[in-house]
Amino acid sequence: MRSLIDILDLSVEEIDRLMDVAASIMENPMSYAEAMRHKKLATLFFEPSTRTRLSFEAAMYELGGNVLGFSEASTSSAAKGESISDTARIVAGYADILVMRHPKEGAPLVASLSSPVPVINAGDGGHNHPTQTLADLFTIRHEKKRLCDLTVGFCGDLKYGRTVHSLIAALSRYTGIRFVLISPEELRIPSYVKRDILAESGASYVETTDFEGALPELDILYMTRIQRERFSDPAVYERVKDLYILDPSMLKHAKDDLCIMHPLPRVNEISVAVDADPRACYFRQALYGKYMRMALILFLLDEKQLSVPSPKEVSETVSLPVRRDAICKNRRCITTTEQELPQLFKLANPKEGVWRCVWCEHRNT
Ligand code: NCD
Repeated sequence: MRSLIDILDLSVEEIDRLMDVAASIMENPMSYAEAMRHKKLATLFFEPSTRTRLSFEAAMYELGGNVLGFSEASTSSAAKGESISDTARIVAGYADILVMRHPKEGAPLVASLSSPVPVINAGDGGHNHPTQTLADLFTIRHEKKRLCDLTVGFCGDLKYGRTVHSLIAALSRYTGIRFVLISPEELRIPSYVKRDILAESGASYVETTDFEGALPELDILYMTRIQRERFSDPAVYERVKDLYILDPSMLKHAKDDLCIMHPLPRVNEISVAVDADPRACYFRQALYGKYMRMALILFLLDEKQLSVPSPKEVSETVSLPVRRDAICKNRRCITTTEQELPQLFKLANPKEGVWRCVWCEHRNT
């Protein structure tokens, strides 16, 4: 049995296969209309969502299955203090697959360790968002006809933008990708993404604050919202919130075949006047996401992949060595709220002796 917690849980070949299936569903939806008959998908959303939750629900319905779940922590037993592990174990008795979004980083990983059915991470804090990445990769393949030899600009909140972290991890595995990371100083990409993903893969990248200067060289522009809900200091949010706004005049200097993406929701970082530009791909991107989620559900619930699981110890799921003698200092880490969860660190960069929390990947300093 497989779960999807991190985009790197899937190989490049598996992602290629998922994209082929998604394309086939788009072409011929009726031939998949009964594929998940009598199966149920549970949505456990502890944080707001429109696209991700509704596209999962639509995906399951279009496969002939059913959906149950909640869309607010306040309407679930979490409000009474139930742990993530208990919630996952219980709901797994009611559904064949779980989709979880949670403000704490590492929560879906915790759920997957106690769930006997597959768990899909639909966004954990500022950490990861692998199914948005599947939608993003499918969008790029569809719009650009390739996933290699591209200059990809990420603009906005690269610190807390979980979609950015997952997409960089995924694209780092393709050849000829050059990353241009455009953000204010305060919102630069986290060090773990730079050291463990970009440096490790040998991908080429530059960091800059100059949006207009970077725009002309880009094949893909991935705009992001400043993630107000993740700032501990509202003054910092106020300072950075309107720094980058894409408008039609800026696009005069961009490539004719630029692909403008955004995971949405947008606040004001893309002016509405850009929507009419054929290079604006973000609404199509949201639709592609539904087809990729259909392909993912089919993949994870493929009978051949099912086996009888035994409850796992997290230390079994990470490659050794691990250590337990520190406390994670990330205030968004799931260990801050799950009382029984062990503190656990993995050696992420043996050369430099860097230890990272198993749950949220925060560096232990
Ligand atoms: C993103 C998210 O939730 O991280 N939205 C989405 O799932 N499409 C982006 C965001 O909230 O800014």
